[in-house]
Amino acid sequence: MSNADAYRVRREPFYQAQDNEVAHYEAAYAARLPVMLKGPTGCGKSRFVEYMAWKLGKPLITVACNEDMTAADLVGRFLLDASGTHWQDGPLTLAARLGAICYLDEIVEARQDTLVVIHPLTDHRRTLPLDKKGEQVEAHADFQLVISYNPGYQSLMKDLKQSTKQRFTAFQFDYPEAALEVGIICQETAVDRNISEKLVEIAQAGRRLKGHGLDEGISTRLVVNAAALIGQGVAPADACRMAMVRPITDDADVIDTLDHAISAVFG
Ligand SMILES: Nc1ncnc2c1ncn2[C@@H]1O[C@H](COP(=O)(O)OP(=O)(O)OP(=O)(O)O)[C@@H](O)[C@H]1O
Ligand SMILES: [Mg+2]
Repeated sequence: MSNADAYRVRREPFYQAQDNEVAHYEAAYAARLPVMLKGPTGCGKSRFVEYMAWKLGKPLITVACNEDMTAADLVGRFLLDASGTHWQDGPLTLAARLGAICYLDEIVEARQDTLVVIHPLTDHRRTLPLDKKGEQVEAHADFQLVISYNPGYQSLMKDLKQSTKQRFTAFQFDYPEAALEVGIICQETAVDRNISEKLVEIAQAGRRLKGHGLDEGISTRLVVNAAALIGQGVAPADACRMAMVRPITDDADVIDTLDHAISAVFG
């Protein structure tokens, strides 16, 4: 198995398109433009990247960004072992060499000085300088960078610089419309359409509380989780409380409002 094969998406991931994002991504990829996926947590951003990597037949290398991440964590570093020092490529370098899609998840968590390493890779240069190693990596023709972030809960401190943003084409994601979400829940879990419709109704009631006591709506991920609990025999109303309400808020009034909505739907 070649190195690139280790990162191939083997089975077709289930992805329900919401609009023409699949064709638009293919166009961005064909033009080798870097892609930014924006949208709330749990709305399908990561699933979309996995699906596109599968559809395009490209390896996918995912990096979960955090504020302790350094440029060396992305690019690579010299490691010491019994036989001396050797260079180890970081995930970004590996993706550039292999011609993979490199997905930097939660990019705003990374520090700005870390992120500038992606700049020469995401403009006409398509190169990655490994300063410590004294090497200039020319990105493989198939390489593409994808980043994702949730514009909702980031502070001003954590916004991306314009010089970073203005290298990307952006896809705006949101929770799927009701009929599509019902289908997603049925596909992802074993619940029937009737239950799925009720779960989505509750999720939509929760989403209307965004900005009125909730910072984020009830994500599709949480609806899938509720359905999974129901599939394990948990009573539907309990499953909704466990999966869709308690995780997202400690506000007694909001909990009360949502619990009532659940009782109204499931009795
Ligand atoms: N369009 C979709 N097609 C198929 N499944 C979906 C879709 N949207 C959401 N899901 C379901 O919701 C779950 C969460 O989606 P995903 O992991 O892609 O969220 P995300 O947007 O990457 O969230 P985060 O910002 O927290 O990483 C998936 O595991 C899947 O079950
Ligand atoms: Mg994700």
